[in-house]
Amino acid sequence: MKPKTVLIEGLDDGGRGVGLVDGEKAMVPFSIPGETWQVSPQAALLESSSDRVTPPCPYFGRCGGCQLQHISEGRQLAEKQRWLAATLARIVPPEKIRPPIPSPKHWHYRRRIQLHVGPKGEVGFYAHRSREVVPVEACRIADPALNAKLPEIKRRAQAALQGPKKPASLTFELTLQEDGSVEIRQDGEERSFLQVNPEANQRLIEVLQGALAALRPRRVLELFAGSGNLSFPLALPGIDWVAVESNSRAVEEGSRRSEKEGRVQWRQGQAAKTAERLFQAGERFDLVLLDPPRGGAEDCLPVFRKRRPPAILYVSCHPPALKKDLQVLAKTGYAVDWVQSIDFFPQTMNLETVVQLRDAAFAPKP
Ligand SMILES: C[S@@+](CC[C@H](N)C(=O)[O-])C[C@H]1O[C@@H](n2cnc3c(N)ncnc32)[C@H](O)[C@@H]1O
Repeated sequence: MKPKTVLIEGLDDGGRGVGLVDGEKAMVPFSIPGETWQVSPQAALLESSSDRVTPPCPYFGRCGGCQLQHISEGRQLAEKQRWLAATLARIVPPEKIRPPIPSPKHWHYRRRIQLHVGPKGEVGFYAHRSREVVPVEACRIADPALNAKLPEIKRRAQAALQGPKKPASLTFELTLQEDGSVEIRQDGEERSFLQVNPEANQRLIEVLQGALAALRPRRVLELFAGSGNLSFPLALPGIDWVAVESNSRAVEEGSRRSEKEGRVQWRQGQAAKTAERLFQAGERFDLVLLDPPRGGAEDCLPVFRKRRPPAILYVSCHPPALKKDLQVLAKTGYAVDWVQSIDFFPQTMNLETVVQLRDAAFAPKP
């Protein structure tokens, strides 16, 4: 059988290289655009990219956490930006997409990790698309303070497995706190959302501050507000700020902070329903800021269509979901002003993106 080869043309949503073989899409894990691979009878790299690097992590390839460690840092972000532009191509012209903002740290940037425990007490991360635990001694994208807790987690995992009731599954979530201590939670206890990369989070806040300075809103409705990570730095005096969030713990944390700092009013509830109720009650907002989970904010879009906030700032962590929502917003008469990506998750195929949209009826004509 004649070997089949493929020229890798781009990366897919999971970070795999994609090319065409006899007119059919072929996916090659751990490849780089521009490389030539043999895909059958077995995979083999024929022509390597100058951006190929040796992955520093011994678990890379087995652990499901990272997909891009074999690509140099600059090239990773260039490819993710190309992925973003290609995903949004039919909705956003390239000149509206700003150059990406890199993560200040490429390694040890995560302040929260989830460790899973396997049947023999092994502690680590899930393998790619699997519940099999890949045991690790340390994680190169986690903060060193989290890695330092691994021996303790292993001891706790062994103790739990040897206890009277053997748990069906066991997970520990480790979070680095502001004061340097590490909080350990076991098995999905409720907690509020946390942006895992604090330095990149600061860049996100700066991008949004720039947008607010230009839009000068007086009343802002923030949906999917968490515990106020974005609300408090953005709600400057003179802005009336209403934050909506469904997680009761996050709203409690946000409300406690509002008692001290003021400025943000909290509403607990589902984003779409709560927003609609506020509009129904006669509230008006110059700007809606939303930062939904990975799946996007489909159920909020009819509210925007009906209530027409003049400007929308949409923060997304998943370009394919962003694309779906922008398609609907574009049909509803919203025009994209600009798109700004920020690399929150180096070594992985995830990209945080901010989009500013305005109701075309209000946007200034060029
Ligand atoms: C990506 S996080 C963003 C949180 C916040 N903006 C931050 O930077 O920390 C999404 C938030 O939406 C909340 N959420 C999820 N579904 C929701 C819904 N249907 N209505 C309101 N909030 C929701 C989650 O609890 C989470 O806090």
